[in-house]
Amino acid sequence: MIFDCAKMPPERLYPLLAGTVVPRPIAWLSSCDDKGHSNLAPFSFFQLVTDQPPTLMISINRHADGSQKDSSRNLQLCPELVVHLVTPELAGLMNATAASFAKNVSEIDALNINTIPSQQVRPAKVAASPVSFECKVVSLTPYPAHQPSCDILLAEVLCIDIADALLDDQHKLRHNELDLLARLGGLWYSHSRQPDNFQLARPASADAAVKSQTQADSNPD
Ligand SMILES: Cc1cc2nc3c(=O)[nH]c(=O)nc-3n(C[C@H](O)[C@H](O)[C@H](O)COP(=O)(O)O)c2cc1C
Repeated sequence: MIFDCAKMPPERLYPLLAGTVVPRPIAWLSSCDDKGHSNLAPFSFFQLVTDQPPTLMISINRHADGSQKDSSRNLQLCPELVVHLVTPELAGLMNATAASFAKNVSEIDALNINTIPSQQVRPAKVAASPVSFECKVVSLTPYPAHQPSCDILLAEVLCIDIADALLDDQHKLRHNELDLLARLGGLWYSHSRQPDNFQLARPASADAAVKSQTQADSNPD
């Protein structure tokens, strides 16, 4: 079945898009306003844009009336943030921070979340997150311009905080130790460390790719 997006109401379109572009990593975003009042909220429309300069993208939706979420408003008042990655153990707490708290209520205070000071930015860091990125705002762009449904955040990473247990003695990531929560469609979640995860080497050349595919086609089992 082909769905013509132009003819679909948002409530039917969203679950088809958000339920198929999966799994999505979750950015647990700590921000504050110009007076230092903190905010913490999860966002799964989140990706790495480039490593030069190290840049993350998060799409922060607008409310139905077009107004900005607290995270977007804070980023305009204080263009600094911490993006945390979330372990399965933190799923419940992360989900709790997605509730609609009043504008002047900090999720960090209301949920008694343990934080530590960041090194290069004003918003605090969630102590229990094993990987976090201290960032500065590069841009926060309403999209689409004529009637924004979201604000697209580009954030440059200033420093990365990784739990020592995830690093080997040469300070390289121990991939198999990292287990991060990911968003699927509906109420479903997954995580990155799975028993059927596998490694796949990149083809050495175009010739090698064609040769191995020809072998696979002639030998499907
Ligand atoms: C796992 C998860 C992922 C989410 N992803 C997004 C997202 O990508 N964009 C968005 O606007 N809201 C997303 N939300 C909803 C926000 O977290 C929620 O609206 C939150 O209240 C926003 O907080 P704020 O108003 O303090 O900024 C997500 C919620 C959860 C639980």
